[in-house]
Amino acid sequence: MPTLQDAPTPDDGFYVLITGANSGLGLGIGCRLIDEFLHSRPQSQSLILIVTTRDKRKGDATVKQLRAHLHKACQNLETKLPGIRMLLEGRVFFRQEILDLTNILNVQRCARSLKDNVPKLDVVIFNAGIGAWVGMDWLQIAWCILTSPVTSLTWAPFKISGVGWVTKPQLPPGKDGAKVEEPPLGDVFAANFFGHYLLGHYTAPLLARYHSSENRGRIIWVGSLDAYEHSLDLNDFQYLTSEAPYEASKRMTDLMCITSTLPSTDPHTDAFLAYTEEKPAAKPRIYLAHPGICGTSIFPLNFILDACMYAAFFIVRLLGSQWHPVTAYKGATSMVWLALAKQSTLDAMEEREGVGKWGSATDRWGEERVERTEIEGWGWGGVLGERKKKYGRSPFAKDLTEQGKREFEETGKKCWEEMEKLRLEWEKRLEDAGVAVEME
Ligand SMILES: NC(=O)c1ccc[n+]([C@@H]2O[C@H](COP(=O)([O-])OP(=O)(O)OC[C@H]3O[C@@H](n4cnc5c(N)ncnc54)[C@H](OP(=O)(O)O)[C@@H]3O)[C@@H](O)[C@H]2O)c1
Repeated sequence: MPTLQDAPTPDDGFYVLITGANSGLGLGIGCRLIDEFLHSRPQSQSLILIVTTRDKRKGDATVKQLRAHLHKACQNLETKLPGIRMLLEGRVFFRQEILDLTNILNVQRCARSLKDNVPKLDVVIFNAGIGAWVGMDWLQIAWCILTSPVTSLTWAPFKISGVGWVTKPQLPPGKDGAKVEEPPLGDVFAANFFGHYLLGHYTAPLLARYHSSENRGRIIWVGSLDAYEHSLDLNDFQYLTSEAPYEASKRMTDLMCITSTLPSTDPHTDAFLAYTEEKPAAKPRIYLAHPGICGTSIFPLNFILDACMYAAFFIVRLLGSQWHPVTAYKGATSMVWLALAKQSTLDAMEEREGVGKWGSATDRWGEERVERTEIEGWGWGGVLGERKKKYGRSPFAKDLTEQGKREFEETGKKCWEEMEKLRLEWEKRLEDAGVAVEME
């Protein structure tokens, strides 16, 4: 079994980090990435898969599962091409990191460890997250399933969220053991957005290293179909009073990923991506993806309800829903495609259709594909008068207007301003408390 010490030089190695890799989509992305990497990249290239989990036990188990997947995939090929197994298995290396997104110090430690141990990063996939749902409105479920099963099992209105969740204190107690005053940090905000935001900032130099405009380092953010305009209140950036904090975090993800490409956000994205004038071509790119709807443990259900959920998802897919890949492996399609696609392909598609949100979709038999997804206030590509897709539109979809697009851009810019401000504030607090991790 190859170890990371045998890993190739940065030129021959493709370094990918996946957060929350121990379950659901994270694991699906890892498995799919291994398969597609081995099929699409030259023999001379190796994959270095860096998985983050909240503790070492989960990390060990994840690497074990990914190794088993690799072994099985290679064994299947061995029956067709004897001798290929050893060759292919030797091209995939694993590394694990501990990451708790709700703990800023822990995020800094993870970034420090990456800086100390890997020469570069080609792709980071920000997948980890929580739903923060505490139950379901059963009456509404019954009504929805009778009246609009496909729509309501895609943009589910019956989830009940926890409200006002905050993280554990970020600052350690003072010398006298007394609690140090600090502002609250939203739990869903930290787990679904801000923790990744900080990690993105700290790892940006690794994403710039060994890259150029023909081959940019990529941040791929996992969004959701549940990213409604009405769920984000700009007076509550951490969704502390929101009754839909998950949806708010996903709307913020859409806004910030899409507007990261606009000149109006340059001052903030330059600071976020640690971009320097000396190496303009190496500025990493931020991409937005979503997995459609998949059966994972993001909504905790008992065994019977879990089975009912899968059955319902397969049925709506058969009824024609394109947004039900159902399995995490199929849900990983868009993220893995974004990770492996040539820069020239992505650039050409964006040139033609505008910057967009890349979703995992399937036909009714489960044949997967990548499908551009409509965003409220941006449409499919931010192009006024663009051709509207007939299928896969949210019940809240509105045709793109000049005014709507302007508001989307302004809101995105405001989010960038606020996030940069918040990052600097928290970094200062940790420094003042004498606990910040040295990043240079
Ligand atoms: N499933 C879907 O249909 C769907 C649809 C749209 C978008 N998504 C998105 O896909 C992503 C993955 O979700 P999933 O469905 O695969 O759910 P999942 O099976 O519950 O996986 C979530 C992952 O995130 C990790 N995580 C949670 N809180 C964390 C924290 N504070 N720090 C670090 N890691 C943390 C979990 O680790 P632990 O095991 O330690 O908790 C787990 O590995 C999420 O961003 C979700 O919003 C999912």
